[in-house]
Amino acid sequence: SQRRKVDETLAPFRLSQEQLQLVKARMRAGLKAGLKSKMTSGVKMLPSFVYHTPDGTEHGEYLALDLGGTNFRALLVRFKKGLQQNSRLYHKIYTIPLEIMQGTGEELFDHIAQCVSEFLDYMGMKKARLPAGFTFSFPCEQTALDTGTLVTWTKGYKATDCEGHDVVNMLREAIKRHNEFDLDIVALVNDTVGTMMSCAYEDPQCEIGLIAGTGSNVCYMEEMKNIEKIEQKEGEMEKKEGTPEREGDMQDDGTKGEKKVGDAKIQKMCINTEWGGLGDDGSLDDIITPYDIEVDQNSINTGKQRFEKMTSGMYLGEIVRQVLLDLTRRRLLFKGHVTETLKTPGIFKTEYVSKIESDRLALQQVRTILQQLGLKSTCNDSIIVKEVCGAVSRRAAQMVGAGMAALVDKMRENRGLDHLDITVGVDGALYKLHPHFSIVLQETARDLAPQCNVTFLPSEEGSGKGAALITAVARQKQKM
Ligand code: BG6
Ligand code: GLC
Repeated sequence: SQRRKVDETLAPFRLSQEQLQLVKARMRAGLKAGLKSKMTSGVKMLPSFVYHTPDGTEHGEYLALDLGGTNFRALLVRFKKGLQQNSRLYHKIYTIPLEIMQGTGEELFDHIAQCVSEFLDYMGMKKARLPAGFTFSFPCEQTALDTGTLVTWTKGYKATDCEGHDVVNMLREAIKRHNEFDLDIVALVNDTVGTMMSCAYEDPQCEIGLIAGTGSNVCYMEEMKNIEKIEQKEGEMEKKEGTPEREGDMQDDGTKGEKKVGDAKIQKMCINTEWGGLGDDGSLDDIITPYDIEVDQNSINTGKQRFEKMTSGMYLGEIVRQVLLDLTRRRLLFKGHVTETLKTPGIFKTEYVSKIESDRLALQQVRTILQQLGLKSTCNDSIIVKEVCGAVSRRAAQMVGAGMAALVDKMRENRGLDHLDITVGVDGALYKLHPHFSIVLQETARDLAPQCNVTFLPSEEGSGKGAALITAVARQKQKM
């Protein structure tokens, strides 16, 4: 019967407890392998050169630039000592057109410089030469707080001549070409790191940053002694160049688990996991469905970011569309009419998935949404569409929950604890706008990491504020 066939189609999305445990175990293995020097894991584990969460003494005025999912934001942030609530904020949002995301690198950075120029005009601050933090939400191999080469584009970006280049340099060059204002770019920050920092400003137990938005990623505070990559790199550097000690360079001071940065003893560093790459080595192949394969094949980065493609906003609507296409071709939906609309990549934005799953909607309203998309549905069709959306987004939330369970258990074991209380700062449209994602995520993390008490704290002001906090700390250190 139709019912049975629909159920069979959705069955691979309904992960068993055992499968979720497997996702957790593979994430755990990915996190571990990524910390070693050789790139053996799809999980890149990139050092951020951020050593502490904020302590409330940050002060001053900073510019934050935030190139994230679909938008570019410019913010002006002001911190006063001890006044956590009152960081005054001004901000403006600029959209990045597709032809800029996928044009040349020079065009992309020229566009950003143009946006910053407009923002400074708007604020009347063209002459100020402000210290700036740059949130750049893509994997960067950093060698210092203000240097990082783009490893690979992810999500919807593929501008040419950027991979393998220092993105801070590219921005500095674009600002020079623009020739109207000057900035002191102090920090390059991933959005997960910015989100963790901005939430940690309010909650000192926050040592994880999660983005469930266009992309999917997490960062966390790791013990220095576990970051084998850095140890080896620094060792190599000393041998090769005999580099003199300066701030930002690290040396083992002989004490276990601590390394020296300047004069301070450092115990931890924030690691940008880039967990979206889990599965790029085939480790999720037994969970991946034919629909996931289709989405991956049609993407601009086939074979990459397999975990991200099962869990984030950029792809969930596409997975849904693939399932609907299949059901329609098998005459189980839309009376078997495969319309041009249904064949159009990208029509099923994840915001529609969120809307369709809203509990407050009557089925009639689901039909109206489908109609707006150009899909004529019967009442029965709309029930099936809602089911498909539910299965796809629930799997996404559960997989993120399983990944989170792996991470918090690792952190708990790092500290030799039986029980860990920890807060996760979160941002992203999928987390914030989907009606069930956050609850399913939380439940799964609790089930799979029973020895941890994980609190999710939505970020209120985005990762830009966190980038400004990092800039503030770095600036204060420079002055000392
Ligand atoms: C924003 C952060 O609030 O959330 C960005 O400031 C981040 O840095 C973004 O990239 C993620 O959300 P989305 O849904 O736009 O990808
Ligand atoms: C992608 C990027 C990562 C970012 C995430 C969320 O996974 O590679 O750097 O944090 O999207 O925006």
